[in-house]
Amino acid sequence: MKFVKVAEVQEFAAIAKKKIDFNGTEILLVRKKDVYYAVNNRCPHMGGSLYDGIFKGDAVFCPKHGSGFNLKTGEVIEQGKLLFIKVNVKNIQTYPVKIEGNEIFIGIES
Ligand code: FES
Repeated sequence: MKFVKVAEVQEFAAIAKKKIDFNGTEILLVRKKDVYYAVNNRCPHMGGSLYDGIFKGDAVFCPKHGSGFNLKTGEVIEQGKLLFIKVNVKNIQTYPVKIEGNEIFIGIES
């Protein structure tokens, strides 16, 4: 695994989330209090952008059908609904985050 610089801490003074394009993969970097989480931005159900989702505690809820994911573990905590039927959704990928001084790195499998 290699760590790639994706942002600077000072960027998060004004915003609490950032969408990163890494070699064609969208990664969502979120700051909750002083903890940073990095997850795949695309919902595994039908590709909803979690960047545009609803953030509650340590979870993000997909803006398309409402599936919820734990930002730390990537696990599904709530299945969303399409019409009245619960969707079948998989966990999202998470990435380790490392802070060095003012720089934020994400661990990527190489
Ligand atoms: S696209 Fe995310 S729950 Fe359907």
